[in-house]
Amino acid sequence: MSSLGPEIDSALRERMRYYRDLGVYSFYRRCDPDPQLFESTELSPSQTEPDISPRKASFVSPEVPAASPVIPPEQKAAALEAIRAELVDCNRCPLATQGRHTIVFGDGDPNARLMFVGEGPGADEDAQGLPFVGRAGQLLNNMITAMGLKRGEVYIANVVKCRPPGNRTPEPIEANTCMQFLWRQIDVVRPEVIVALGATAATYLLGGKASLASLRGRIHSVRGAKLIVTYHPAYLLRDPRQKGEAWKDLQIAMKELGLKAPQPAKSEG
Ligand code: URA
Repeated sequence: MSSLGPEIDSALRERMRYYRDLGVYSFYRRCDPDPQLFESTELSPSQTEPDISPRKASFVSPEVPAASPVIPPEQKAAALEAIRAELVDCNRCPLATQGRHTIVFGDGDPNARLMFVGEGPGADEDAQGLPFVGRAGQLLNNMITAMGLKRGEVYIANVVKCRPPGNRTPEPIEANTCMQFLWRQIDVVRPEVIVALGATAATYLLGGKASLASLRGRIHSVRGAKLIVTYHPAYLLRDPRQKGEAWKDLQIAMKELGLKAPQPAKSEG
């Protein structure tokens, strides 16, 4: 906690999060323990996105695993469970000792055509062991319903599987350490479309920082999937005026998946 007191500290944190969601990074607190660790890593071809440089290297994990072989549909659930089992009692990064209660692995259909990737568990997710079950999760559920899908038909995961204290943004060392598991989840599920929810998911999936504004509205390519970037539901809760913009992003995903929004039921009489 800063010396400014808990209320100012919390207000500052909230403000920084707001700016980050807008794509403003000058407030970001860098904490790379070893700058060399994050530099001059080779990107796998599926990760390259020409417009993200020059700050790409700082946010690219040195351990991006090569894409694993395609897994038959009936074996995907077991394959995901095997990855989950590797995370039991994980102590690979500092989040292991910063108050997490559960490891929030992921949830949904192992054969989903659509995957959502968020930032990291919050308090509700940490308590229940499932991603997006708090207020932001309620909004995500509504977004999924608006797309004509059920939550159980998509797959949902996060960049980091443990709750960062105070819901702070994961540090690069934490995100880069945990990304290997997200890559493997993506390789198992092999979604046709991934929706990155917010700046952190976009940063680590695309391998570098850029403003959400510059990433939204077009289709990126990540590990064989089409990637669409939109606002994080928590940001939409803070600024509901942006919901229309998020809906535009979801419509791009729907078009790629051949989905039509459900028609509202006609009232009788
Ligand atoms: N925010 C996230 O990014 N992920 C969750 O699972 C919940 C809230």
